[in-house]
Amino acid sequence: MRALAVSIWVFINLVFFGMCGYMYLLWSQYWLYIERQAETSSSNYDQQIFYYNRGYYPNNSAINLQAKQRQKHSTIFKENLTVTVIKNSRPRFPNLQPKDFHTDSKKFVCSKNDSSIDCDKKTSEYKDNIIKELRRVFTDESNILRMGKENPYDVQYRGARGNFMEKSPKRVLCELIDAPLSTIKRADIRNHVLKEFIPKRAFFENKRYNSCAIVASAGSLRDSNLGALIDSHDLVLRFNNAPTKGFERDVGTKTTIRFLNSQVVTKPQFNFLTSNLYKNVTIVAWDPSNYSSSIKEWLERPEFNLLPNYMAFRRGAPKSRTFLLNPQNVWDVWDFLQNNSPSMLRRNPPSSGFLGLRLLLPYCSFVDVFEYVPSARVTKRCHYYDPEENPSCTFGVWHPLAAEKLLTYYINLASDRDVFQTGFVRIAGAKNFEC
Ligand SMILES: *[C@@H]1O[C@H](CO)[C@@H](O)[C@H](O)[C@H]1NC(C)=O
Ligand SMILES: *[C@@H]1O[C@H](CO)[C@@H](O)[C@H](O)[C@H]1NC(C)=O
Ligand SMILES: *[C@@H]1O[C@H](CO)[C@@H](O)[C@H](O)[C@H]1NC(C)=O
Ligand SMILES: *[C@@H]1O[C@H](CO)[C@@H](O)[C@H](O)[C@H]1NC(C)=O
Ligand SMILES: *[C@@H]1O[C@H](CO)[C@@H](O)[C@H](O)[C@H]1NC(C)=O
Repeated sequence: MRALAVSIWVFINLVFFGMCGYMYLLWSQYWLYIERQAETSSSNYDQQIFYYNRGYYPNNSAINLQAKQRQKHSTIFKENLTVTVIKNSRPRFPNLQPKDFHTDSKKFVCSKNDSSIDCDKKTSEYKDNIIKELRRVFTDESNILRMGKENPYDVQYRGARGNFMEKSPKRVLCELIDAPLSTIKRADIRNHVLKEFIPKRAFFENKRYNSCAIVASAGSLRDSNLGALIDSHDLVLRFNNAPTKGFERDVGTKTTIRFLNSQVVTKPQFNFLTSNLYKNVTIVAWDPSNYSSSIKEWLERPEFNLLPNYMAFRRGAPKSRTFLLNPQNVWDVWDFLQNNSPSMLRRNPPSSGFLGLRLLLPYCSFVDVFEYVPSARVTKRCHYYDPEENPSCTFGVWHPLAAEKLLTYYINLASDRDVFQTGFVRIAGAKNFEC
């Protein structure tokens, strides 16, 4: 009798767990299917950058059609098309932790009325929240990536996976400065027409600055009143087509360097050859290569062919200081990040923000990066100059942003008030710094 009861009990259990397993299998197959549907044929970088900036794929009919087909298949996509699945979604067990991080609440922004103690309290509460959120995104990502095979740049990383938290901030900064990052020199190029268009003098040869500012294009710069503080720096670096006109109070007027991705150089809507944004400033443009590609291979197959416009620009302004980033170095910086992150990173290049920081470090006493580690003004708005909203602009969908930001905060010298209320981190430059 007892034996029978036990057998029945075991049988019921087997059936139950078997069903669970089967359901899980169905569920994961379903997501794999959805993902394949989401694959699109046009340039990966294009799609991804667009996605990164806007949170949805380019609005062309092919993609809308796919989204519609997907809608037919399921009731999951009740939201409008602009909020389709994140490309890397994989079956995930429901996240039981409540996401208690809110953007666009002014709850943690100190007001003039707040006493110093109140403001410190808000700052430290906000800090706990944002660090927790960045860690959550970071861990979620690596959980997803562990199962994923997505590797568009054919990254073959064989180095160690350390943890920056176990090193001193100084050690981490020294390693960052050691990661090579330079612009392409004439000597790097053989047998290519590009060679003679590269400026003879190296980027910032013999130039040194005291204070440098990097202005991220974050939506939270709106109403920040940071313009005067930004302009007080000796050098100001801005990204892509981020304007100053009309936003002077919040982002300042000075521009020394523009750091451009290859789409801005290439696509007609950015008017690279004619717009005043790109005149009389130092320009550094970059385009991702595959992980192990040589410069020669990259020149043959850049992701976005920025070379024709680059050469035309140089022809029109032979004295201009217009440089191309060495694409191999982009991966050296990625290696540095992965070497300092215990879990797997997104196998996509670091963000322009992080590359810009590494680029300036050797030339400045210190670099202030504005609204890169998000302040209490954090918002869903992607850019201060356009109204599009998506939280992934702040937390990262394409670049390994969460890892970059956690690491940058770790090596920061500014007070928590400056970081989370004023809105900048300060990183010591190599100029006055012994490694
Ligand atoms: C997408 O394109 C369609 C027509 O091509 C247009 O009606 C719609 O407003 C666009 N949506 C967005 C978000 O741009
Ligand atoms: C979807 O779009 C319709 C009209 O375009 C709008 O009224 C509605 O609020 C949108 N829904 C969501 C969830 O954004
Ligand atoms: C600041 O204090 C004044 C008077 O004490 C009050 O009227 C105002 O609402 C307060 N403002 C904020 C933002 O708390
Ligand atoms: C980069 O690597 C991917 C994946 O291995 C490959 O399909 C692609 O052809 C490579 N692209 C270049 C430009 O070498
Ligand atoms: C760039 O500098 C030249 C010479 O200093 C000046 O004539 C020109 O107006 C400047 N252009 C812009 C857009 O500032």
